Amino acid sequence: MTKEIDGFISDLPKGCITETDIYTDRGVLLCPKMTIMDSKMLEALSQYKGRIHVIVSYTQPETTDETPEEDKSVTFEDSFKKYAEESLTSIFNNVDDVDSLTSGAKEIGEEVFSIIDDSKDLFINLSKLKVSDEYTYKHSVDVGTMAAVLAKALGESKDFVHDVTISGLLHDVGKEKIPAEVINKPARLTPEEFDIIKTHPVHGYRLLSESKDITEDMRQGILNHHENVDGTGYPRGLLGDRIGKMGQILSIVDVYDALVTKRSYKEAKTPGQAIEIMFTMSNKFNMDYFKSFLSVINAFPNGSEVLLSSGEKAIVMRQNKSYPLRPVIKLVNTGQIVNLASDPAFLSTVIMNFVNTI
Ligand SMILES: [Fe+2]
Repeated sequence: MTKEIDGFISDLPKGCITETDIYTDRGVLLCPKMTIMDSKMLEALSQYKGRIHVIVSYTQPETTDETPEEDKSVTFEDSFKKYAEESLTSIFNNVDDVDSLTSGAKEIGEEVFSIIDDSKDLFINLSKLKVSDEYTYKHSVDVGTMAAVLAKALGESKDFVHDVTISGLLHDVGKEKIPAEVINKPARLTPEEFDIIKTHPVHGYRLLSESKDITEDMRQGILNHHENVDGTGYPRGLLGDRIGKMGQILSIVDVYDALVTKRSYKEAKTPGQAIEIMFTMSNKFNMDYFKSFLSVINAFPNGSEVLLSSGEKAIVMRQNKSYPLRPVIKLVNTGQIVNLASDPAFLSTVIMNFVNTI
């Protein structure tokens, strides 16, 4: 709709587009036509206190009493998290008993798989998923879960989703063969120490080569979970498709999980920061898989209260698939619904942090 304004800058609706030039009362051009009146522009023009005459177009702000859409994220009961932690602790403490290692991983994997297999339109709620904040084998449950959701979103078969869950649970099992003083070093690793760490995918592959429960594809996924499609990964520096589907899926979710996990020498990134960092390294990932990953994760789940860079507070209403950092929100003060992925008046607005998570 359009509106003729004969008044002051303060009468311009936020987000409108000027259809005519705006002049000061002395005839000086203040603002050309086709300018988007976002908060920055309105603030700059607010210096001018005289009268203006302009025609603007704008969409009626959508305001509503609607409540946030249901949050369809993978959730685990606290009892399951505790069981998964304890169970992984015991099986990883005795990795030389390959049969109990794989049967333990399968037991947890079946449970994760059944939750994911039963659900439709699943999202990974990045702020809620974590089973453990510690960077140990416990984080493997998060990796297995995210790998399963991503594989399902990619349309993979049930068998594949099942197998990638278990590969995710076991992906770092080779770390048990690395000296504890290197694994647990409370500081950055030297290049020599890092070379030792880089052998863990090979140790994992070898450990599991004796297991009849683990297929060669699953072992390859574990061997290749640190490979990058641009050839910069390890242990073999494989390129593109040579990494295989499971390795490519695990590498995306493992990088994400490493970024949001606290280490003794670095703070954990927030989900939003982690996604931004992953955008800068997207040449290392299978692009189609990375896009799918972005479509199944949400950094700010429905119902959570967030703080915007403008200082306003908002409630997250629903997700925009593929734009995990830019959901549809409702401004707390005005009740206005804003789609952060498409509203021109909010292009420069970002979500800074949570006020309250659900
Ligand atoms: Fe690893």
